[in-house]
Amino acid sequence: MRRAICKYVSLTWILIILVCGGQGHRVTVEKVTDSYGLSEGPHWDHRIQKLYFVDIYNQYIRRLDPATGVVTSAYVEHGPVGVAVPVDDTTDKFVAGSGKDIVLVTWNGDENEDNATFKVLTSIEPSSSDTRINDGKVDSSGRLWLGTMANEVNGQVAHKMGSLYCINDTFQSEKIVTPVSVSNGLAWNIEDNTFYYIDSFTYQVEAYDYNPNNGSISNKRIVFDLKKANLEGLPDGMAIDTDGNLWIAVYGGSQVIHVNPKTQQLLRKVKIPAANVTSVAFGGPLLDILYVTTSSHGLTAQERKESPHAGALFAIKGLGVRGILANSFAMNGVKDSSEEKNID
Ligand SMILES: *[C@@H]1O[C@H](CO)[C@@H](O)[C@H](O)[C@H]1NC(C)=O
Ligand SMILES: *[C@@H]1O[C@H](CO)[C@@H](O)[C@H](O)[C@H]1NC(C)=O
Ligand SMILES: *[C@@H]1O[C@H](CO)[C@@H](O)[C@H](O)[C@H]1NC(C)=O
Ligand SMILES: *[C@@H]1O[C@H](CO)[C@@H](O)[C@H](O)[C@H]1NC(C)=O
Repeated sequence: MRRAICKYVSLTWILIILVCGGQGHRVTVEKVTDSYGLSEGPHWDHRIQKLYFVDIYNQYIRRLDPATGVVTSAYVEHGPVGVAVPVDDTTDKFVAGSGKDIVLVTWNGDENEDNATFKVLTSIEPSSSDTRINDGKVDSSGRLWLGTMANEVNGQVAHKMGSLYCINDTFQSEKIVTPVSVSNGLAWNIEDNTFYYIDSFTYQVEAYDYNPNNGSISNKRIVFDLKKANLEGLPDGMAIDTDGNLWIAVYGGSQVIHVNPKTQQLLRKVKIPAANVTSVAFGGPLLDILYVTTSSHGLTAQERKESPHAGALFAIKGLGVRGILANSFAMNGVKDSSEEKNID
C-alpha cells in the first residue's frame, strides 16, 4: 500500500496547501467557498463549467463559479434538500429531492433566489415514514438514483429505515435496495457495467453488476471496508476516475480516500481540514479537479471557531487522474421556463 505522507502548510486562512509525497504529483487542497451547513451532492455542470451542490438542512441549492469564486444560492421552501441535479437541455430547471418528495425547481443560477419556484412531482415514501431523501446521482440513461435515511432525532439516525430508488423520466420510482440506513455515495464505472454504492453505517463500499439497458443491478459484493482497513469515520459520497478507482469522502475521518475496488487496495489518502467530509465530484475543464464538500452541521458556536473550515468546499488539484462527466436528468417533455406550459 502506498501512503501519501501529507503535511499542512497553511498559507492564509483561505488557501491551504497540502504537500503530498509518494505519487510524483504535487497535490494541493484549496478552500474554495465560505463555510455553509451540511454541504453535499457536488455536481459538475460541464455545459457552464460550474459546480452545483446542496446545503441540506439550510435548504439551499448552491452554485460555485470557480472562475470567479462567486457562490449563488436558491432557497427551496419545501424541506431539506438532499440532492439537486440539472434537467437535460435546460439551463434553469433542477430535479431535487426535498424531504420525501421529488420537486422540480426553477432557478437561473445567476442570482440568489430567496424563495425558488418549485413544483412537487412525486413523493417516494409514505408520509408516515420519518425519513428524508439524501444523496443521489443520474445514470447514463438519465434516470435519477437517490436514497433515503431516517430523520435525525436528537443527533441520532435510526438504522435500516431507508431505501435506494431509481426515478425515471416520468417520475415513476422503483425501489432498488432496501433496507438501507444512510443512503450515500453512488458511482458507475466508465464501461457502465458496474455500480458502486455506499450505505454509510455499513462502513463498506458495495459493488454490483449493472445492466445499463434496464438499470438492473445484481451480484452484490463488498469491495472495501473502512473498519477492516483501520480507518476512522464513515464512507459518505463518492466519485470514480477513468482508471476505475474510487474517491470516497470519509465523514468523521478528515480525509478523502482513493481505493482500487478490484484489488480492495487503499491507494492514497488526502487530508481535508474539516472532520466531516461529505462528498466528492470531479470538475474543471479537464475533469481533473476533485471538489470536496464538508459539513458544519450540529456544531456549537465554540466548535465552529475550533473548526473554521467545516462546511466549506475544497478543490484538490494535482491528483493526476480524471473523472467521468456527470449526467443530467432526462425529463419527459421539459423545456426552459420560456416554454413553461410544456412541463406538464
Ligand atoms: C414562497 O413561495 C411560495 C409559493 O411558491 C409561497 O407559498 C410562500 O409563502 C413563499 N414564502 C415566503 C417566505 O415568501
Ligand atoms: C418508469 O418506471 C416505471 C416503474 O418502474 C415503469 O413501469 C415505466 O415503464 C417506466 N417508464 C419508462 C418510460 O421507462
Ligand atoms: C435486465 O436485463 C438483464 C439482461 O438481459 C436480465 O437478466 C434482467 O432480468 C433484466 N432485469 C429487469 C428488471 O428487467
Ligand atoms: C462531525 O459530525 C458529528 C456528528 O455526525 C459531530 O458530533 C461532530 O461535532 C462533527 N465534527 C466536526 C468537526 O464537524
